Amino acid sequence: MGYETIIVETDEHVGTVRLNRPEALNALNSQLLEELAKALAAFDRNDKIRVIVLTGSEKAFAAGADVKEMAEKNFVDMFSEDFFTAQTESMLRVRKPIIAAVSGYALGGGCELAMMCDFIICSDTAKFGQPEINLGVIAGIGGTQRLTRLVGKSKSMEMHLTGRMMDAEEAERAGLVSRIVPAKDLMSEVMKTAEKISEKSPLAVMAVKEAVNRSYETTLREGILFERRLFNALFATEDQTEGMAAFVEKRTPQFRGK
Ligand code: HXC
Repeated sequence: MGYETIIVETDEHVGTVRLNRPEALNALNSQLLEELAKALAAFDRNDKIRVIVLTGSEKAFAAGADVKEMAEKNFVDMFSEDFFTAQTESMLRVRKPIIAAVSGYALGGGCELAMMCDFIICSDTAKFGQPEINLGVIAGIGGTQRLTRLVGKSKSMEMHLTGRMMDAEEAERAGLVSRIVPAKDLMSEVMKTAEKISEKSPLAVMAVKEAVNRSYETTLREGILFERRLFNALFATEDQTEGMAAFVEKRTPQFRGK
């Protein structure tokens, strides 16, 4: 607790982190990323929390890494401190699903941060882009890799080379976001989705996250084997017994993560 650049809230089984540097359109500086990594790790350890939501403000999810902080640095600084690596690696270790709720700008590191979440729901005002090229650099926390996997080479290459922004419609068409909702409904829709996931077996939810993410890291054959073994393993859980019994008995299952 005692965060200065983020606001953390819990609602039943859903933990929310709101990026909160309004004076800089939620630009990501070292302090914010440290606090974010801590808050996400704390939610991951908290048994009551089953789903995490990451969001910003109406105007900006995040307008990128903090250019004013980076402007002071040289190669030796960036290389020796491995700028932003520890914090982003820590976020990738979170085992519970993280939903990005994006309104307004998600640019540069902001777009990369949204793509590090498990899926993105955005408002009709969202704008995505990788404008680092305008600063004489390139994406640095996964943009060239994740955007390419999500939207394909041609569009990713164009986005990175021109620095242009993509609106919500284009982002949905291209497969960057799972869904667009009207700006005024963004948080209520995201919370409904988070609550729906929080009613599932937390063990099966973690297995889904691991299996889908594995598809980025491995061959099809190995990925399918990984999925099958997780599927098999879930038959050792009480939640599997409960889920299937509830179906047969025509009642709502009560999953306990056991
Ligand atoms: C620091 C930023 C910022 C950023 C905005 N601000 N983006 N400060 N870093 N990335 C600050 C502005 O300086 C300004 O502060 C205030 O937020 C409001 O921004 P304006 O520009 O006045 O708002 P607007 O005219 O509405 O334009 C919005 C915008 C523009 C289009 C999003 O701010 C913009 O282009 N921002 C930079 C986007 C960008 O280049 N992102 C990539 C960064 S590099 P003051 O004090 O002047 O009022 C990156 C690398 C990631 O992300 C890899 C890391 C390892």
